[in-house]
Amino acid sequence: MAPTAEPHVMSTYGRLPIALSHGRGCRVWDTDGREYLDALAGIAVNTLGHGHPKLVPALQDQVAKLIHTSNYYAAPLQEQLAARLCEISGLAKVFFCNSGLEANEGAIKIARKFGHDRGIEAPEIIVYEKAFHGRSIATLSATGNAKVQAGFGPLVEGFVRVPLNDIAAVEQVARTRPNVAAVFLEVIQGEGGINAARAEYLRALRRLCDERQWLLMLDEVQCGIGRTGKWFAHQWADIRPDVMPLAKGLGSGVPVGAIVCGPKAARVLGPGNHGTTFGGNPLAMRAGIETLAIMEADALLANAAEVGARLRGALERELGGVKGVVEIRGQGLMLGIELDRPCGELLRQACDAGLLISVTAERVVRLLPPLIMTAGQADRVVAILAPLIRKLLATPLP
Ligand SMILES: Cc1ncc(COP(=O)(O)O)c(C=O)c1O
Repeated sequence: MAPTAEPHVMSTYGRLPIALSHGRGCRVWDTDGREYLDALAGIAVNTLGHGHPKLVPALQDQVAKLIHTSNYYAAPLQEQLAARLCEISGLAKVFFCNSGLEANEGAIKIARKFGHDRGIEAPEIIVYEKAFHGRSIATLSATGNAKVQAGFGPLVEGFVRVPLNDIAAVEQVARTRPNVAAVFLEVIQGEGGINAARAEYLRALRRLCDERQWLLMLDEVQCGIGRTGKWFAHQWADIRPDVMPLAKGLGSGVPVGAIVCGPKAARVLGPGNHGTTFGGNPLAMRAGIETLAIMEADALLANAAEVGARLRGALERELGGVKGVVEIRGQGLMLGIELDRPCGELLRQACDAGLLISVTAERVVRLLPPLIMTAGQADRVVAILAPLIRKLLATPLP
């Protein structure tokens, strides 16, 4: 289709000039019939890849039965998905919404009300440098990125920022600020450049939150739903959060968000405190139920761990010693390759070479493939990507 002189869609994104038309597994095709290997999964969304042979008929069945009803009526599919999320997380109750920022917005409300219920008039939430929690006014205020916040002040108050993996910084806040009600972080920062909270740091935070009666709120919007090889990334540290916002991969492409709460937070919100028109609709719930069921039946946690390890191993072999590669990091199928320079141009080059990837935090190549990726496809990702990175790094820095 010829582009119109003045597009009617707001230009909030720098888009690559291809339009994708259909997909199968980890392969997608554009409207000119060119094929791409998908190592992005719609930014950690397409858990089951594209056109999954079990998901598609289930969604077709649901669309024909009911898409939306409102939250005025009993919601058996919500109950079913909530029960499964509680089973795999060890938590207690769920509120369903439509996106990551909505799940985080709800988590922030829970933290504030939890504080108010304990007699704190102006509750504060500890948040992190380089964090990303969304683009609503409250979630961009919690986000640790000046570019995301620029132009949208005044920001929401009540956030205290600390660096990641520095427990002394949190202890210092604990000593000096009596109004703290919660700590809020991503287990692995995604947009911030694939920066993991260390297991011992998470365990120390858990202890501090228990001692201080704070909520531990772990944003697993990007790193959750099997991406790291466990259902949730915090499970590698053998802890449980009090509040866990989810979205992205939960519906394998159908928009769905969830706030999963443990016993300390599960009853903070009551009738009239929170709501949504679309959240928890039958189509989204069926997508979540089927995604989790297929992940289990097809052993996709193990696949994410194994194929992720292979992908990382191949990246380390091909790029490990190369000058200009700062670090290769991440877990399972959430990997980052930090370079010594901005590398946004790799997006276009990889696309031209038939590979879909992302670049975040300016200098980090990010891989977030569908959890169904095969070993052979992982090898192909590296075969396409490594030469492009080597070529970029061979160019002298200005
Ligand atoms: C960790 C994290 N939280 C929240 C969000 C916001 O999710 P959404 O874009 O669905 O609002 C994102 C999106 O990238 C994210 O990575």
